[in-house]
Amino acid sequence: MSELILGVETSCDETGVALVRDGELLADVTATSMDEYARFGGIIPEIASRAHLESFVPTLHAALEKAGVTLDEVDAVAATAGPGLIGSLIVGVSAAKALALALGKPFYGVNHIIAHLAVDRLVHGDFPEKFVGLAVSGGHSHLMLVRNIATDVVELGGTLDDAAGEAFDKVGRLLGLPYPGGPHVDRLAREGDATKIRFPRALQSGKNLELHKYDYSFSGLKTAVARHIEGLRERGEEIPKADIAAGFQEAVSGALVEKAIAAVRANGCDTLVVGGGFSANSRLRELAQEEARRSGLNVRIPPIRYCTDNGAMIATLGWEMVRNGVEPSGLGISVDTSMARDTVILR
Ligand code: KG4
Ligand code: ZN
Repeated sequence: MSELILGVETSCDETGVALVRDGELLADVTATSMDEYARFGGIIPEIASRAHLESFVPTLHAALEKAGVTLDEVDAVAATAGPGLIGSLIVGVSAAKALALALGKPFYGVNHIIAHLAVDRLVHGDFPEKFVGLAVSGGHSHLMLVRNIATDVVELGGTLDDAAGEAFDKVGRLLGLPYPGGPHVDRLAREGDATKIRFPRALQSGKNLELHKYDYSFSGLKTAVARHIEGLRERGEEIPKADIAAGFQEAVSGALVEKAIAAVRANGCDTLVVGGGFSANSRLRELAQEEARRSGLNVRIPPIRYCTDNGAMIATLGWEMVRNGVEPSGLGISVDTSMARDTVILR
């Protein structure tokens, strides 16, 4: 099957357009409005949607040119239909629907979180018959059992409060680092000693673990970091930022990997696929690979450029839709800002 799939990602601040043919990436172009948010300490949805509007056509043209194809060669169009920011989603979905209508080709409105896992197919080849997916980003931290990435995804658990990336961004702010804090905390943690301060790990033992086998909670941990810093300040002591970053990073990454591996084992799988912006985290990648070596499981994590939001993930999931014969969304769909984790396609 050599269909050419156009993928459009606009769920947050990145305008991503990519082209995939036969599971091969031909082009992946991203424009971002992130630079505008550092001074606000967070994304401003209204600015993000306007930036998508301005960036979409140039990004599309750049992707077509890079791939060496023309629009009329495109066989199907896929776009992120949710979850995400409403204005941002609407811009991408409207653009993708307009293209599909003009070309007379099918349109697929797909799930952003599942696409974060799907993108690994580009790098590491076909998925096994079933696997556990850990999707971790700024807004989401979820464990999923995947039998078919296009048709059969079941949520096993997820964060009860802050997502991993969100917790990192908040701790980044506490440590006086620029927004988004995730990559900065990661960098700082490398200079610190993770054993100096042991922060609490929620839902990791006793009754809480029983009740929330595959769930995560990072908000208590974030508060513990805030209290720790406050205490040092009150006592007029120096704040060992690198050690705090390292201890915090260890607690988050440790919890993510531990439960993910437990889910792989309990579901009779041999593969864990990790995706999403937070999977760029160096300690998470290290711990997951260590665990893979120790236990003989396969751990698949795409290279960092495919971890944060991009069009390639959407084009790949669109391609999976086409080759699995999934019925398209149709042009009547809207967007779903809180799209259910196990809904692969919006109808
Ligand atoms: O998937 P993504 O690009 O957007 C969402 O769908 O949310 O994820 C962005 C998140 C941000 O919270 C960012 O701080 C975090 O991923 N992130 C990291 C790292 N790189 C990005 N967090 C920790 N360590 C990193 N190296
Ligand atoms: Zn994302």
